[in-house]
Amino acid sequence: KIYPVILSGGAGTRLWPLSRAVLPKQLLPIVADKTMLQDTALRVAGLPGLMAPLVVCGNDHRFMVAEQLRAANITPLGILLEPVGRNTAPAVAAAAHFLKSIDPEAVMLVLPADHVITNTEAFREAVTRAATQVAGGGLATFGIVPQSPETGYGYIRRGAPLSGCDSCYKVERFVEKPDLATAEAFVADGSYYWNSGMFMFAADRYLAELAKFAPEIAVAAEKAVGDGYRDLDFCRLDEAAFSSCPSDSIDYAVMEHTGDAVVVPADIGWSDVGSWSALWEVQQHDENGNARRGDVYLDGVKNSLVRAESRIVAVVGVEDIVVVETQDAVLVAHKSAVQRVKQVVEHLKSKE
Ligand code: GDD
Ligand code: MG
Repeated sequence: KIYPVILSGGAGTRLWPLSRAVLPKQLLPIVADKTMLQDTALRVAGLPGLMAPLVVCGNDHRFMVAEQLRAANITPLGILLEPVGRNTAPAVAAAAHFLKSIDPEAVMLVLPADHVITNTEAFREAVTRAATQVAGGGLATFGIVPQSPETGYGYIRRGAPLSGCDSCYKVERFVEKPDLATAEAFVADGSYYWNSGMFMFAADRYLAELAKFAPEIAVAAEKAVGDGYRDLDFCRLDEAAFSSCPSDSIDYAVMEHTGDAVVVPADIGWSDVGSWSALWEVQQHDENGNARRGDVYLDGVKNSLVRAESRIVAVVGVEDIVVVETQDAVLVAHKSAVQRVKQVVEHLKSKE
């Protein structure tokens, strides 16, 4: 049985001022009418062989997560609460222990809660292909053909083709977040994919690899689930145990090291909407290439994203910019500089 595990713990700081610590992007209807969490859960709902999802999120977000799932008519298998964020390797490890206690053979389909996938059919088909490899002990990644030398992604070099699965490959190398020169070489090479950040593997295979490469995380996560407690709606990880867990991502802790990774190329209309320019790309454009939301007046504006949440926003005679208005903050940025929005949040935090 395959259990979707939805990771909903990120802060989405590069989408400030819309995305905030109390209300991060996955809990907002940023791209569509539903929130990104709801879209993620609905994407895997009712698929043959897929069980109800397990959601992993921070304790502070528990009521919003529960309410959003209810509103989308999704009954989760559980909602696992992290007392503190320890990045994805521990979050996935806790989910693996939780699932193993229910089903020793559990297979996990790890899904970030904040990605856009426009081709649901192709996504489901990629999951089916990955399942054939997971049965043999593989740790499956979903590879996206790279469009630019993005340094915020993991890169996967495909190795030998695998039998029993149409165009699935062994992973020859997994490199998380390379520097720009390396990323450029990877894109030019043609045999690399972007890591989409979605994974599929048997829970006990992940835990075995984690025990090999990051034993402290494996031990702490097991204790956090074992000493945690469950009530009607939530499963709370033990605070002392989880706090003592080292912080690391699944990519650095496991995927760069394991010898059993496989890559399933997936042409699914994927975007991690990591920045305002990425959001501009996936949104609908008017005849001038503008993505607009809310009460917006534009004159002579091209290829821009303009979003009004609470007031009228008028923009005149500019191109390639981002304007985001919210009740208490306004962002104006050039589209080529949106990665630096992260620093705005750091600056604000340092003033607190
Ligand atoms: N529950 C939980 N707890 N979720 C978390 C935590 C945590 O502590 N930290 C991150 N997440 C969630 C985020 O909300 C996001 O959905 C997902 O896990 C991935 O975390 P990011 O922090 O966004 O990772 P990244 O963007 O730096 O890199 C990953 O994603 C890229 C593609 O978007 C890596 O897997 C890269 O290799 C990959 O290319
Ligand atoms: Mg990300």
